[in-house]
Amino acid sequence: MDGMTTTPVLADAAAYARAAVDAQQAAAAYYAGGTSPLDDDAYDRLSRSIAAWEAAHPDQVHADSPTGKVAGGAAGGDVPHTRPMLSLDNVFSGDQFTAWASSLERRIGRSVERWSVEPKLDGLAVAARYERGRLARIVTRGDGTAGEDVSHAIGTVVGLPERLAEEATLEVRGEVLMTTDQFEAANPVRVAHGGEPFANPRNAAAGTLRARDRAYTVEMTFFAYDVLPSGEAGGPAGATAVEPAAGGLEHWPHSELLAYAAALGLHTSAATAVPGRVVTGAGVVLDRVAEIAALRAELPFGIDGIVIKADLAADRRDAGSGSRAPRWAVAYKLPAVEKITRLLGVEWNVGRTGIIAPRAVLEPVEIDGSTVTYATLHNPSDITRRDLRLGDHVMVYKAGDIIPRVEAPVARLRTGEEEPIGFPEACPQCGSEIDRSEQRWRCVRGRDCHLVASLSYAVGRDQLDIEGLGVSRIVQLVDAALVADLADLFTLTRERLLGLDRMGETSADNLLAAIATARTRPLSRVLCALGVRGTGRSMSRRIARHFATMDHIRAADAEAMRQVEGIGAEKAPVIVAELAELASVVDKLVAVGVNMTEPGVTPPPPPGSETQPPEGAREAGPLAGLAVVVTGAMTGPLQALSRNQMNELIERAGGKSSSSVSRRTGLVVAGEKAGSKRDKAEDLGIRLMDPDEFAAMLGDFLPR
Ligand code: IVH
Repeated sequence: MDGMTTTPVLADAAAYARAAVDAQQAAAAYYAGGTSPLDDDAYDRLSRSIAAWEAAHPDQVHADSPTGKVAGGAAGGDVPHTRPMLSLDNVFSGDQFTAWASSLERRIGRSVERWSVEPKLDGLAVAARYERGRLARIVTRGDGTAGEDVSHAIGTVVGLPERLAEEATLEVRGEVLMTTDQFEAANPVRVAHGGEPFANPRNAAAGTLRARDRAYTVEMTFFAYDVLPSGEAGGPAGATAVEPAAGGLEHWPHSELLAYAAALGLHTSAATAVPGRVVTGAGVVLDRVAEIAALRAELPFGIDGIVIKADLAADRRDAGSGSRAPRWAVAYKLPAVEKITRLLGVEWNVGRTGIIAPRAVLEPVEIDGSTVTYATLHNPSDITRRDLRLGDHVMVYKAGDIIPRVEAPVARLRTGEEEPIGFPEACPQCGSEIDRSEQRWRCVRGRDCHLVASLSYAVGRDQLDIEGLGVSRIVQLVDAALVADLADLFTLTRERLLGLDRMGETSADNLLAAIATARTRPLSRVLCALGVRGTGRSMSRRIARHFATMDHIRAADAEAMRQVEGIGAEKAPVIVAELAELASVVDKLVAVGVNMTEPGVTPPPPPGSETQPPEGAREAGPLAGLAVVVTGAMTGPLQALSRNQMNELIERAGGKSSSSVSRRTGLVVAGEKAGSKRDKAEDLGIRLMDPDEFAAMLGDFLPR
């Protein structure tokens, strides 16, 4: 995780002055919720260069240097803070953290026994003032000494309740952000009201929090990270049951303050997959840092680092604070997941269902440990809406394994040389017409347009799992006109196969055997192989388990389709229409003997009978009704199963597979190297099993 530790050297006073102005402008745009012309890594590098130059030339430091400011150049406001809202110093590697921790320990003259390690939420800091349990005011950080009153946002921020569980008078500080879901819900609402889409959740939260009198409201989320006595009163008035320690709040361990906040009804990181934790020893801190970093990509909200704080009040008191940042806490910054680079071109690719998707060709840029050259551009109307142009500097986002995406152009870096992006007139794959009736354009030939891609998907490991059918083999079959759709695969004969180049007898026999096995796959796999738009692996399983047979699926109208968990009013008619479009292939698959039932699910009564619509045998099996989370590496009989096969197994046994542990989880199967999900299950008292126990419990349900 170490990296980004190089600090470019500023050559002279002029370079220093320029850097200070750039950093200030970027910080001002950042805090005001605009698009900063620098991404986070570039900003951090610039700040470090400035700090290094200032350390060498202390007599020449500019009065308004961003390093000396309480909050790094933020727009101020007119509501004074009860105590300054400080920033944090940064470290970028384990070594830097260890050095920082040693200097803190030297300063206080003892070792820090308890460290609180928590996610650094990527939003905006606010102070929320509660009076006798009522939320009276929300103030932004502003310049750190005074902020802006944004109390108009009361009622729109999840986790910042209007009433606390007790009549406490205090100030809660924390971060307001948009979760991924909130961001995805907010942008269409904003666009529908004539606004520009927000570039990212952080900007969206900043813009939303400060906007007054908008015709629409969108939701945000608050995470508390500090509790202070209110300016006037000296503590939480009336705190009773949840008060953990005696004395004023300033004497409480930080971890207990956060537990108190949670008990009052405020949202904290405790409710997430990366809860704040107290650990002992700097080495263990780094283990926890690595755990949180590893979970970053899966989190439903953005984090840009990990905050490490001395937990005990005495350590915090003895360390004290500088004018800009406390000495008892530090931010371990993670590499930025957003970078600015240039948009060099746009390619139009046809996917397996005939969707024509634009893809950005970028000036290569290193993001989160890998070089990004391509990124998705969503759809054509998105390009128009964002007014993207060739040559633009664009913000590119990538986290973990997700496909990088272009967020927005950085308008202030435009030179005037940028050019419009050309849109295709005809399908770039086959030259047919383009159906532009929906946001995502599609070749009128649909999945027939890109047969090779749709067949490759269909024979993949999580669908029909036909070994020996790689892309080049499929191209051969299509070119030789042996296969024109999925069902044709099942009509292949030994003779025809042997007529192909590079196809020996053994390969032909193996392939035919694999195809024969594919005929017996469960309905969920067959459905997934068909590549119905709007359904993937888990949705295909849900549909198959709900309806039990292909006949019932095909008989379902949109209303019936909506009975399947996760299918809403928008998706249901698309799936029904897709199935109608696939009717002839499905008929052919039936004719060639492909299985069309879901094992273990009781076929429902015939349509039109008195009894209820199919609910199958969904609730039967050893896992009936249980939400099951699998984590860590599987061993024993489960070792060979992919995650998809594990999910299938769980659902076959009546359970529901889920990826995160919560109070609703019924069972956690923890294999080797299981990490935080296992810990969370232990914390919540959820039943844990190792892979062998789980395999024994499932017995007959295991694949043979
Ligand atoms: S503690 C005096 N804890 O990061 C210490 N800050 O870059 C104040 N932030 O100004 C901050 N998550 O807006 C703290 N768990 C967390 C945080 C956090 C995000 C923000 C906060 C702070 C900024 C510094």
